[in-house]
Amino acid sequence: MSDSPKPNKTGGLAGVNAGETAVCTVGKEGFGLSYRGYTIEDLAAKAGFEEVAYLLLYGELPTRAQLTEYRQSLAGMRGLPEGVRTALELLPKTTHPMDVLRTGCSVLGCLEPERGLDRQSAIKAGNRLLATFPSMLLYWYHFVEGGKRIETQTDDPNIAAHFLHLLLGKAAPESHVRAMDVSLILYAEHEFNASTFTVRVITSTLADFHSAIVGGIGALRGPLHGGANEAAMELIELYKTPDEAETGLLEKLAKKELIMGFGHRVYKKADPRSALIQEQAKALATAAGDATVYPVSERIDAVMRREKGMFTNLDFYSASAYHFMGVPTPMFTPIFVMSRITGWTAHVIEQREKNRLIRPAADYTGPELREFVEIEKRG
Ligand SMILES: CC(C)(COP(=O)(O)OP(=O)(O)OC[C@H]1O[C@@H](n2cnc3c(N)ncnc32)[C@H](O)[C@@H]1OP(=O)(O)O)[C@@H](O)C(=O)NCCC(=O)NCCS
Repeated sequence: MSDSPKPNKTGGLAGVNAGETAVCTVGKEGFGLSYRGYTIEDLAAKAGFEEVAYLLLYGELPTRAQLTEYRQSLAGMRGLPEGVRTALELLPKTTHPMDVLRTGCSVLGCLEPERGLDRQSAIKAGNRLLATFPSMLLYWYHFVEGGKRIETQTDDPNIAAHFLHLLLGKAAPESHVRAMDVSLILYAEHEFNASTFTVRVITSTLADFHSAIVGGIGALRGPLHGGANEAAMELIELYKTPDEAETGLLEKLAKKELIMGFGHRVYKKADPRSALIQEQAKALATAAGDATVYPVSERIDAVMRREKGMFTNLDFYSASAYHFMGVPTPMFTPIFVMSRITGWTAHVIEQREKNRLIRPAADYTGPELREFVEIEKRG
C-alpha cells in the first residue's frame, strides 16, 4: 500500500481536518460554535468583548479583578508610536482600510518586534495590536480626510466605545457600543478559517508574530472571507425597496452570481452568529426609523432562502448593523481584523506549542518529463 497522501478531490481542502485545536468548535454536533467550551450564544448575551479576548488569549474567563486590570492595560496601550503615525500619514486617501491595517501592523512589528517565540511574547504583541488597530485606522482616516492628527489615547471603557468615539469624534450611544461589542465577540474566532489557517501556516515556519498577522489580514481581505461584509453592504445599497431588491436578486441568481453574505464552508443549515447580529441590526434599524436598508436586507434573505435554500452568514446582517452605527462601508472588514486578532493570537500560541511545519503535498497535473532545449534552439 502506498503511503502517499490521499488526493484532495473536492478542492479547497473542503472536509479536510488540517490539524487539532482546543480554541474553538465550528458546527460540531452538540457544540455549535463555541470558544474554549463556551457557546457563542452565552458569550454574546453575557460577556463583553474584552472578557472574550481574555478567554481566547489566556484560556479561561477572567475574574472581575482580572478583567478590570486587563481592560485598563489595553486602554493604556492605545497610543501609536511616532513611526507608525508617520508611516500612516504617507498612505494615500485611496488606500483600502484593510491595507492601512496591514501596513500599520507591519510597521509596528518593525518598531516593537516580538522578542521571542514564547507564549508571553505572543500575548504581548497580540494585546498591543488589539489595543492599537482602531487607533491606526482612525488616525489615518482623520488625517487623509481632514488633515487632522487625532489623539488616539482615550479613556473609553472598551474597544467598541474607543473605535466609535475615534470614528465619530464624540461618544457613541450606549446601544451602538453594545451592538459593536456583540459584533466583536461574534467575529473573534472561528477555528481553521482561511485567515487563521494562513496565520498558522506562517507561524509554523517559526516566523515572528507580526508576519503571521500581516498574512492573516491579507487572507481576510477577499470577499469570499472577511470582505463579504463590505460586499454585502454594496449589494444592499443597490436597492431602494424590497421589491426592487427581489427583482435585482433574481437577475443575479439567473446569471449565477455569488451573493455575498450567504453560504458557508462548514455550516450547512445556519450560521449561529447570524441570528445574534440580526437581532442587533433590527434593533438599530428600528431606533433609526429605517424603512429601506433593513427591509431590503430581509427581502434578500427571504429570496435566497426561497430560491437557493441558502442562509445568511455573520457578514450579511453585520453590514446593516455597522451601517446604522455610522461606520463607512470600507471599514467593515477592518472591524473584523480588530476582533479576529484575538483568535489569531490564540492560534499562534497553540501552533507554537506543538509546532510542526505545515507543508502539504500536491497532486501533479503538469506535463510529462521532457528534454531541456537550449534557448538558442527554441525558435
Ligand atoms: C463561503 C463560501 C466561499 C463557501 O464556499 P464553498 O464551500 O466552496 O461553497 P460550495 O461550493 O459548497 O457551494 C455550493 C453551491 O452553492 C453555490 N453558492 C455558494 N455560496 C453561494 C452564494 N453566496 N451565492 C450564490 N450561490 C452560492 C455555489 O456556487 C455552488 O453552486 P454549484 O454547486 O451550482 O456550483 C461560499 O458560500 C461563498 O462564496 N459565499 C459568499 C461569500 C461569503 O459570504 N463569504 C463569507 C463566509 S463566512
